[in-house]
Amino acid sequence: MDSILVRGGTELAGEIPIAGAKNACLTLMPATLLSDEPLTLTNAPRLSDIRTMTQLLASLGAEVTQLQDGQVLAMSSHDINNLTADYDIVRKMRASILVLGPMLARCGRAVVSLPGGCAIGARPVDLHLKGLEALGATLDLKDGYVHAEAKSGLKGAVFEFPLVSVGATENILMASVLAKGTTVLKNAAREPEIVDLAQCLRRMGAQIEGEGTSEITIQGVDRLHGATHPVVPDRIELGTYMLAPAIAGGSVECLGGRMELVSSFAEKLAATGVEIEETAKGLKVTRKNGRVRSVDVETAPFPGFPTDLQAQMMALMCTADGVSVLEERIFENRFMHAPELMRMGASIDVSGGTATVTGVEKLKGAPVMATDLRASVSLILAGLAAEGETRVSRVYHLDRGYEHVVRKLSGVGASIERVHGE
Ligand code: EPZ
Repeated sequence: MDSILVRGGTELAGEIPIAGAKNACLTLMPATLLSDEPLTLTNAPRLSDIRTMTQLLASLGAEVTQLQDGQVLAMSSHDINNLTADYDIVRKMRASILVLGPMLARCGRAVVSLPGGCAIGARPVDLHLKGLEALGATLDLKDGYVHAEAKSGLKGAVFEFPLVSVGATENILMASVLAKGTTVLKNAAREPEIVDLAQCLRRMGAQIEGEGTSEITIQGVDRLHGATHPVVPDRIELGTYMLAPAIAGGSVECLGGRMELVSSFAEKLAATGVEIEETAKGLKVTRKNGRVRSVDVETAPFPGFPTDLQAQMMALMCTADGVSVLEERIFENRFMHAPELMRMGASIDVSGGTATVTGVEKLKGAPVMATDLRASVSLILAGLAAEGETRVSRVYHLDRGYEHVVRKLSGVGASIERVHGE
């Protein structure tokens, strides 16, 4: 198993290009199932999760061709010949559930394995199922699979999410574009990935209003046509690399970064004393002198502070001057990076969904273990500020959501390398 070696203490300088968003691409790819005409995604990220979604779509009969070094995905679902999303693929990646809505809408039937457990929380899919039932689907859970049917097609309805769910909003939004009549989704998620999905569906001929707000209205149409769509930049990758100069010192420009994608996060980062500048090419972050100030953080659905940047922000707060309180409100088990950061000399007290971090002068390099995607990159960030060497193992987690992390960080002066098979 590969690991990543980081030697801390070097200030950073230069540019990091931000890739297309994993969490947008993972919902845009299943949208190809809604039409028999080709859908092409540009600015696609090159990640293991994208390869898993490609494998899943291919198992259903879709064609996915990677072009331009993987940054373009040419997809066609002209011949869907299998309506079962198999456990062996779904268990690798929860986002596989996002084929359920589109397949049901297009084919009137779908059998999708339930995703199973996850390190950061229970993560049920009950809202996905309730939303599809509201559109008139009949669902049956058998042998770990959801058997869904809508013999005479789906019907528009008003559905209110009891809590904000990104995935459930995406699944029901995709299902409703081919439903008869009007669907209104209330208390819908407002994430930029959902706005990107709605824009792509509109390019395919869907009729949608209100994306980015908590109420989305969809007027069903008979069929969708082909389209080409650029994937929105990855705001979580962006936030992660904005934190690199904050924790290591120096100045980094994130190419393609947009403030509106990270506004609540940027507000918190600026409050630590770090400079953030909007440039012609993106966002530039500079930390000149001394330690950052401590700030309190509470995760929330967009436009609140993203849970996917909580671990990375904790790494920064481990070096801050003062005490910070981080509250994780989205997932019930998302502090597994804390004990690993404590191996590096951090001072963190976790109690339920609250972590109290007392900043220390200096972290110390140590062998640490990645437990999930965002935890893995928080350990790399901590390694950039630590004295000596940090070895992060189980980096397969990282490959799911960060392309070329070693190349991008060494490109701005970090001492970092990937060690194969140790
Ligand atoms: C998406 O997951 C992202 N994944 C996650 O990113 C992200 O953390 C999360 O949204 C929140 O922003 C992708 O887009 C592929 P939710 P999703 O449904 O859709 C509960 C990363 O690091 N819930 O908004 O699964 C759920 O348990 C990943 O890139 C139900 O109870 O998240 C959670 O507590 C990690 N029933 C809350 O809602 C449901 O049917 C929010 O989950 C669905 C969700």
